[in-house]
Formats: sequence, structure tokens, C-alpha cells
Amino acid sequence: MTIKERFYKVYQAIPERIPHVEGVRDLAMHWARLKGLDPAGLEAAAYYHDLTKYDPLAFHFDVFDAHQKANWKSLPEFMMHGYSASLLAEDDGLSKSLVDAIKYHTTGRAQMSLEEKILMLADKIEPSRPYEEAAQLRSIAETDFEKAFRLMLAHLYEYDIEHDRLNAYSLETYTHYLKERMAE
Ligand SMILES: [Fe+2]
Repeated sequence: MTIKERFYKVYQAIPERIPHVEGVRDLAMHWARLKGLDPAGLEAAAYYHDLTKYDPLAFHFDVFDAHQKANWKSLPEFMMHGYSASLLAEDDGLSKSLVDAIKYHTTGRAQMSLEEKILMLADKIEPSRPYEEAAQLRSIAETDFEKAFRLMLAHLYEYDIEHDRLNAYSLETYTHYLKERMAE
């Protein structure tokens, strides 16, 4: 079974979430082409990125245990799907940069590869995302991908502060990429 077939099998139960993942796929493949990366790799990563998002906690724990990653059980729960999906992708032979893109897509991290940035930005601003900045950021990304990536992080940072939900993992990313803003 290809990852696309597997994705559609899992998402039969949650068809309302298909447009999000297809939006991530289209955008990630588009930027991969612009940047000279393999679009098929980013396509696969897009189909993996939320593959386990609707699985229960016990599922993630089983995957972590089966891969000797018991320490990942202490991650914040909202991040676990990226980590468990990254292990499934690794089992299926995806490259390390794609596996990391899946793993870190929720919060990012310091010193991200281009694959990691592409998947994270696509996840946050694909066309079915409802906030108005998403369209603006997609247009900025056409000419200045790095600028769009940083503006997306700035937007998330403000949202996290406003909603009092800043976590240590996102903070690492913000601190790395938004140095000047964070110093304010
Ligand atoms: Fe997503």
C-alpha cells in the first residue's frame, strides 16, 4: 500500500480533515519544486504528517515502546502525533530530513532543514486554514520563503502569548528564528 492509499484509508473516518492534508501536500510539493527538492518526498511527508493525529494516547505509547522511544511518552500530548508518524515514516524508509520534517512539524525547532520548514509552513498556511494572514503569507512565500516562514512563526508566537499557551518546544523555535522580536 502506498502512503497515499494508507492516508485515504485512515481518513475515511475523518473526511472533513482531507482538504487540510491535501492542501499541505499541494503547497509542500509546490515549494519543493521551486527550491529544487524532490516533490515526491514532500508529498509523502505531507500524507504522513497527521496520519496518527486522531489516534488515542495508547496508540502513540505503543509506537514509542515498539521503537525504544519510551522517553517520548513525556512529550506534550499535542506533539505526539508528529513523533509517532515520524517513526512510521522511518520504518517505511523515508529519508532522515523527511522523517524530521514529520517529527517537528507541530512546533518546529532551532536550525530546521528546508524540508522541515516547508512542511511546517505548509501545515500552518495551506488554503483551508481560516485565518486571513494565511493567504498573505502564501503570497509572500512565492518571492521570499524565509520571510514567510519567520512571519508565520511571529504570528504563532503572538497567538501563543495571547492564549497563554506558549510551550518550551515552540519557544526554542521562536527564540532561534525571531531573535529581534523576542528581545523586545
Ligand atoms: Fe496538519
